[in-house]
Amino acid sequence: MTRKYLMVGNWKMNQTLSEIDTFFKTLNEVGVKYSCDMKIGIAPQAMHLSTCLNKIGTTDIVIGSQTCSEYEGGAYTGELAPKALKELGCGFTLIGHSERRTIYGETDKEINAKTANALSSDLDVILCIGETLEEREAGKTIEVVMSQLEGALTKGEKAIEFTGNQLTIAYEPVWAIGTGKTASPEQAEEVHAEIRKFLKATYGDAGQDIFILYGGSVKPANVKELLAQPNIDGGLVGGASLEAESFAALCNATK
Ligand code: PGA
Repeated sequence: MTRKYLMVGNWKMNQTLSEIDTFFKTLNEVGVKYSCDMKIGIAPQAMHLSTCLNKIGTTDIVIGSQTCSEYEGGAYTGELAPKALKELGCGFTLIGHSERRTIYGETDKEINAKTANALSSDLDVILCIGETLEEREAGKTIEVVMSQLEGALTKGEKAIEFTGNQLTIAYEPVWAIGTGKTASPEQAEEVHAEIRKFLKATYGDAGQDIFILYGGSVKPANVKELLAQPNIDGGLVGGASLEAESFAALCNATK
């Protein structure tokens, strides 16, 4: 089955066990069209990965992690080893989310190492990039986004190797995350088109097939116009992914 879009819920530090139970029951009742063009992912808190893997049953949902370690394994208290995530049944990991970059000080160097480590453990990577409001207002959006892409993918210490859809980019303007302010479809498309140019220049034809997700206050009311843009291949969604009804509406939204 050829998938055209990818919709990923980033649950962040939300959802208790009982809320997860309700989420999947409701999702089942509301109904997601798993045969549509939308590939679906959910990234719960690490301690709920197994629960979610059990709850997805025969649905088409892929479960992933919100971050992972740059190291293969060993004495790194609190960290998540990609190969263990893979063995558990996870399909992907987010890397470089703006909350990881700003709150936990993740650097491009670490993001490059994490990306290399996850891909070499056969875990798909959703690499998150995006500018702050200050950077946008200073006219530096493209410069910032390109430097994050280069830092993670082409100018880091570790070589990044992948095949097919193992790598996905999520453009998430920091000023739009959790604020209710969405980039307009045109604002988002402008950046996505530049990201596409970079990916094609770097990876040739393979760069055309890399999914580029938009994130930042995506909700049922704005998802269709975002997906209608030629270089927006889906969404990375925080708030609106927590309730099964709105997540189902996002997953069922295709062009
Ligand atoms: P939001 O979060 O949808 O709540 O803005 C998106 C994200 O941080 O991935």
